[in-house]
Amino acid sequence: MPTTFNPKRLLLTTILALAAGFVVTTPAAAQDAVKKGQEVYAAQKCQVCHAIAGKGNKANPLDGIGAKLSADDIKQWITHPTEAAAKAKSTKKPPMPAKYGSLPAADLDGLVAYMLSLK
Ligand code: HEC
Repeated sequence: MPTTFNPKRLLLTTILALAAGFVVTTPAAAQDAVKKGQEVYAAQKCQVCHAIAGKGNKANPLDGIGAKLSADDIKQWITHPTEAAAKAKSTKKPPMPAKYGSLPAADLDGLVAYMLSLK
């Protein structure tokens, strides 16, 4: 009797559907974060001091940064650059301004996702 209501089967179907949805939506969400980060990067004019793929200020290239730094380190550079520079013993001038620490959380997450995508 295939039409009989089977709660176990319903539960299994629901779990499978949720799992499939998770697998499908996660990369899309990550891509959205990277896209958001690219917009914030341009809007905040990070390229005045940094270069990505040869575009911007070649004094501080960010190519490969996603392979070099962890998400936490990248976030520290953006929100607490003075501390990050001290930790990295960076004496480059002009130093990175601390003003980005007040950006909305979604903007910060986007910037970190974008930096992590640069491998
Ligand atoms: C006034 C110049 C300036 C601006 C604007 C600036 N930075 Fe920086 N940033 C620096 C300097 C200088 C360093 C230290 C680089 C070094 O020592 O190699 C740095 C370091 C970093 C690092 C770590 C790089 C590494 O090689 O370890 C990241 C990531 C970073 N900045 C991201 C950003 C982002 C994202 C923005 C825009 C929201 C931004 N920066 C804006 C000057 C700037």
